[in-house]
Amino acid sequence: MISKALESLIDYNQQDVRRINHAIKVYGFAKTISGKESVTEEIRTVIELAAVLHDIGIKEAERKYNSSAGKYQEIEGPPIAERILKKIGMEQTIINRVCYLIGNHHSYSKIDGIDFQILIEADFIVNIDEDSLDIISIKSIKEKYFKTDTGNKIIEAMYGI
Ligand SMILES: [Fe+2]
Repeated sequence: MISKALESLIDYNQQDVRRINHAIKVYGFAKTISGKESVTEEIRTVIELAAVLHDIGIKEAERKYNSSAGKYQEIEGPPIAERILKKIGMEQTIINRVCYLIGNHHSYSKIDGIDFQILIEADFIVNIDEDSLDIISIKSIKEKYFKTDTGNKIIEAMYGI
């Protein structure tokens, strides 16, 4: 199922290597964190699919609003993700939660579960590097947003904090 989602992600983002790489990196960290935390198989599936598709709304946001701002991605992402997940035969309860995460992944005040938490941590781990953040910003992100043991270990190990 994850392979099919990854294949759809690559197909949807044709020739946008940067965004394909971003999603695959976030997926890799989300999988690493969720593998070490105690979560059910269903939640693991939600986390992995949400990581693969979390930024799927960017293209439409840019096309419609000329902006990749978080709020537009959050509006545009869920219907595209729903279409992809239905096509690959995912069950509706999982689709609903994945779409909720995609539709809120920039709204940190809405974190309401371990799946949401892990997605946010994985996205930060990748964005810190992609955006070349300085050490003060990295420390403040860690303080504010990191909660899982594994996420904390990874951010410390990668960025020397
Ligand atoms: Fe992202």
